[in-house]
Amino acid sequence: MGAFPYMANGIGRLCVFDNMTAASLAQHSCSSSRVLAKRIHKRTIQPRAVSTQSSRAWLDRQHKDPYVLKAQELGLPSRAYFKLEEINEKLLHRAIVKKHKANARPRLILNNMLVLDLGAAPGGWSVYASTQLDHNAGGAVVSVDLLPLDFNVTDRIQHELNGRFEFIQGDFTHNNTRRDIIDAFGRLSSDRDLTQAHVVTSLTSTKQQKANLIISDMAANFTGDSSTDAIQTINLCEQSLAFAASGDCFDTSYSPENGDGMLMKTGSFLCKYFTCGEENERDLMSAARRVFQSIHKLKPSASRKESSEMYLLGFNRK
Ligand SMILES: C[S@@+](CC[C@H](N)C(=O)[O-])C[C@H]1O[C@@H](n2cnc3c(N)ncnc32)[C@H](O)[C@@H]1O
Repeated sequence: MGAFPYMANGIGRLCVFDNMTAASLAQHSCSSSRVLAKRIHKRTIQPRAVSTQSSRAWLDRQHKDPYVLKAQELGLPSRAYFKLEEINEKLLHRAIVKKHKANARPRLILNNMLVLDLGAAPGGWSVYASTQLDHNAGGAVVSVDLLPLDFNVTDRIQHELNGRFEFIQGDFTHNNTRRDIIDAFGRLSSDRDLTQAHVVTSLTSTKQQKANLIISDMAANFTGDSSTDAIQTINLCEQSLAFAASGDCFDTSYSPENGDGMLMKTGSFLCKYFTCGEENERDLMSAARRVFQSIHKLKPSASRKESSEMYLLGFNRK
């Protein structure tokens, strides 16, 4: 796999977000999941062909991009590595100081955390997270993607975390992938000395352990229509947040006492979205406000100025 495989297949791939997502959400027993599924259904999606000219311009830009070049030089799987690095080491601190006039230097990733990385391929965020964790302190990563991770990337993370890493290839919107995630967290937490945790062997759930941090860089397949892409990606963010804090957080009656979902109390959540207007972003932002002590909209410098890409950080679950 080359240095930036997701870019090669990120353009022009067929859309995977379909009615099945809404249907599978609707199967969930809780009523808020049904509400969320309905809301997703209401948004009509109009795919459009991607122009070869714009793909060529995109490729040209890639070759000149300093973050692409730096990632290649350092042997990193993607330039996304630098976005998470900047959020962890600079932007979070700035956001907290600005909002709360605090002097503390908070970190998104502490060395003993259990991290869930959604939309992990080709692996930049997982690699960065692994460098911030200490397996002796219990740090571990579970990564999920539709696409496989390159063997060298998996190997590198396994090595960094002494085996406390699991990769699940699957669609996050599917229930069986979610069960695999829960199982992986069970295994990683039930045996802190586990050294070979990379093979997902069983669906039988052990004790459920929650994540300290859930990060999602998932992007829906590009259709060529930017507002469609943005709405689909917001849907993925909403589904990630519902997984983190239960679908109930989309209801105005949600109470912070509700500790359901994969994210533990005091845990944080980061997701990539594309700006698409207040109305389309409102549900995500309101739900995040209900769940977290503070929310922040971040734009790392590795995120191109002309791109509508933004990162929503929900810091410190109430
Ligand atoms: C921008 S890339 C992620 C880059 C990655 N964070 C990194 O640091 O290298 C977006 C990824 O989201 C994945 N993705 C999109 N929808 C998904 C889904 N429903 N389930 C799992 N992965 C998904 C894509 O396959 C793609 O690899």
